[in-house]
Amino acid sequence: MPHELPAPAAEMRVDGTTVSLPVVQDSAGNRAVDIRSLYKTARVLTYDPGFGNTVSCRSAISLVDGDKGLLLYRGYPIETLTEHCTFVEVAYLLIHGQLPSHAESEKFSELLNRHSMIHEDMRTFFRRYPEHAHPMAVLSAMVVSLSSFYPEVENIEEDIDIAATRLLSKLRTIAAFSYKKSIGEPVIQPSYKLSYCANFLNMMFAAPVTNYRIDPALIRAMNQLFILHADHGQNCSTSTVRLVGSAGANLYASICAGICALWGPLHGGANQEVVEMLETIFREGGHVDQVIARAKDRKKPQRLMGFGHRIYKTYDPRAAIAKKICREIFDRIGRQDPLMDIALELEAKALADPYFQERQLYPNVDFYTGISYRALGFPTNMYTVLFAIGRLPGWIAQWQELRRDPDQRIGRPQQLYTGPMETHFVPIEKRA
Ligand code: CMC
Repeated sequence: MPHELPAPAAEMRVDGTTVSLPVVQDSAGNRAVDIRSLYKTARVLTYDPGFGNTVSCRSAISLVDGDKGLLLYRGYPIETLTEHCTFVEVAYLLIHGQLPSHAESEKFSELLNRHSMIHEDMRTFFRRYPEHAHPMAVLSAMVVSLSSFYPEVENIEEDIDIAATRLLSKLRTIAAFSYKKSIGEPVIQPSYKLSYCANFLNMMFAAPVTNYRIDPALIRAMNQLFILHADHGQNCSTSTVRLVGSAGANLYASICAGICALWGPLHGGANQEVVEMLETIFREGGHVDQVIARAKDRKKPQRLMGFGHRIYKTYDPRAAIAKKICREIFDRIGRQDPLMDIALELEAKALADPYFQERQLYPNVDFYTGISYRALGFPTNMYTVLFAIGRLPGWIAQWQELRRDPDQRIGRPQQLYTGPMETHFVPIEKRA
């Protein structure tokens, strides 16, 4: 738990008056000046667009150390969890704070099975979307619709397992159904006999006419990819879930908002953008240098997608694991992807370039995950949906933590008003 250092630990001079502010410290040793009293005592606000220097909450769920390239979920390094756990175990860990016992794991899996179907009336929604609807649009709308089918969501704090398994299980089913709808194939129902990730791959890729066999190595890869995304501090979508939740909005509404934030190309939408960028390079003859030059040109809007991170100023540990997963998938399926060679060349050239070095820009999680999804057979527009499924346990855990935190108030940032202070009113009939 954060604790206060001997006060007064920080002093600020405003208009000649010295204001004393307490300093709090977290378990990783990060310190923060607690400015909550600043406006009351000194009538001054703090300005921080993008909240890069602002702590919005206390959280015990995950730690991102951007200097060391370290990611912990409830104290466990991401490397340990991807190596030894299933995604379902990690989801339990994030939501409950500890890994499940055998009995707890069985109960959680049983609940996941029980809640895997979607209401027949909801299934009709899929028919109404245009054929080329982006699956993220469908996913977000379906998730918020769940609140009308399961209104008891208001009381879920009493049984988080039911709410969590319902969402985890149904999100996966909705994702697979929306894909099947987009390719005009009949949906495959979830099976009680299959694990979470096996079920998902089966719902995605099995079809009446194919003989789809679920390879255990690919199920493991799917688990690992989901685990990589399961939580990541107060990132944009998680902060969105918390902001919406802070108004008292229900879990489904809050998570729908998180899905929409994740869709952005600077956030989870980057995995789709990375593969589209690599495809363009491939189509145009493999000229990596042009893409790097364009990303460095401040007059052009393009960035090197899958590179850079607000917190990591060294290699993103998730990118290193994703790169390894990519290689393992290729070995398993016995096929290479020319996009992987382009990605490796792009990475090597960018890391050797002073522009990227000076700004400490390294590959992030999205750089290699898209290539892994491609190798598993997912179409490009499903990549961000996969990120959303992976991030779901983190969103649920953060929403729950917010609800239990006595310090939390409705999220409500301040602004610096730049509009006019007095505008002369002209009646409509006299306006030009
Ligand atoms: N390509 C080229 N230049 C970049 C890039 C990039 N990918 N990322 C940052 N920069 C430059 C930026 O132009 C700025 O330069 P200068 O100091 O000359 O103005 C400097 O680096 C700092 O960038 P910033 O925009 O202030 O950094 P930020 O912390 O606000 O943005 C980011 C972080 C992830 C949005 C950004 O690095 C980016 O746009 N990356 C590409 C999109 C991407 O891969 N997003 C996935 C992020 S990881 C998964 C997730 O959490 O969603």
